[in-house]
Amino acid sequence: MRLENPYLAEECVIKRTKRQTPDTYTYFISYPRGSKKLRTPFKPGQFIMISVLGVGEAPFSFSAWDDEEAIFETTIRTVGNVTSTLMRRGEGQRVWVRGPYGRGWPMEEARGRDILIVAGGIGIAPLKPVIELVAKNRRSYGSLEILYGAKTPDDLLFADEFNSWREIPDADLLLTVDSVPNGMEWDQNVGVVTTLFDKMRTEPNDSIVMTCGPEIMMKFVAKGLLAMGFQPKDLYLSLERRMKCGIAQCGHCQIGPKFVCRDGPVFPYSELRGLPDLLV
Ligand SMILES: Cc1cc2nc3c(=O)[nH]c(=O)nc-3n(C[C@H](O)[C@H](O)[C@H](O)COP(=O)(O)OP(=O)(O)OC[C@H]3O[C@@H](n4cnc5c(N)ncnc54)[C@H](O)[C@@H]3O)c2cc1C
Ligand code: FES
Repeated sequence: MRLENPYLAEECVIKRTKRQTPDTYTYFISYPRGSKKLRTPFKPGQFIMISVLGVGEAPFSFSAWDDEEAIFETTIRTVGNVTSTLMRRGEGQRVWVRGPYGRGWPMEEARGRDILIVAGGIGIAPLKPVIELVAKNRRSYGSLEILYGAKTPDDLLFADEFNSWREIPDADLLLTVDSVPNGMEWDQNVGVVTTLFDKMRTEPNDSIVMTCGPEIMMKFVAKGLLAMGFQPKDLYLSLERRMKCGIAQCGHCQIGPKFVCRDGPVFPYSELRGLPDLLV
């Protein structure tokens, strides 16, 4: 049997881009014709490594994919070398893509249960495929409640999807922002994402929580939900660490015995308690 080299990258192309906020774009990236990659279903929450030749490589999550078209979407905030090159060069840029890697969101465990999503900033990107999967398979899951926070109303990603998310049967979307600039209209919550806990309807019984955002946000999300009676095994967090190999070989992403690239990036809170160098 011939094993596929897990480092093997494929040359892909950015077909188009969509501006979400001034520093965040969704990239629609297409695999070459005949690529095997999109024949294996990608799991929500998994990641790929994208490299730009001569610049560098970094991990990014899927925000959607289309098997038929062999195109996937990834939503990226510009912070450094790779991301600023992607934003500057945009459509037509060739990139090298390897993966998918890692353990995604617990969609099997979530079957038949209520789902609570708590996202902050760019953290909504890896959770978008969860929302879409639930919408497509509506009867397989219980209620869906999405709590999403950003710095200001202009920093909310996927704003043009909000109406369709609200139209998913038995689903709620609660938004919050840290602050509202003078002169801007905003009729929803102001405050950190945990201030939405008073308004949410999801109860701890038979529900599962998926959260992604800055680690300090996830710390307070976990603290608040555990105090409300949610169980550590039902609370899933997606962690971010600097990565090189993506397949548990280099140790860059290691936290104690866990490799974020292989054992995560999604972990149940019960697996993280007591690990070193973690805020959560
Ligand atoms: C599993 C996973 C999924 C991710 N998904 C997404 C996603 O969907 N969208 C998204 O926008 N981002 C995502 N990220 C984050 C993304 O990979 C990082 O932001 C990445 O660093 C961007 O690469 P860059 O070359 O543009 O930035 P870099 O040039 O690496 O710089 C990024 C930031 O890190 C700082 N930095 C640089 N080197 C170091 C160092 N050695 N130690 C500490 N800090 C340093 C820089 O000052 C800068 O602030 C994900 C990360 C992980 C682990
Ligand atoms: S990135 Fe190399 S061990 Fe995780």
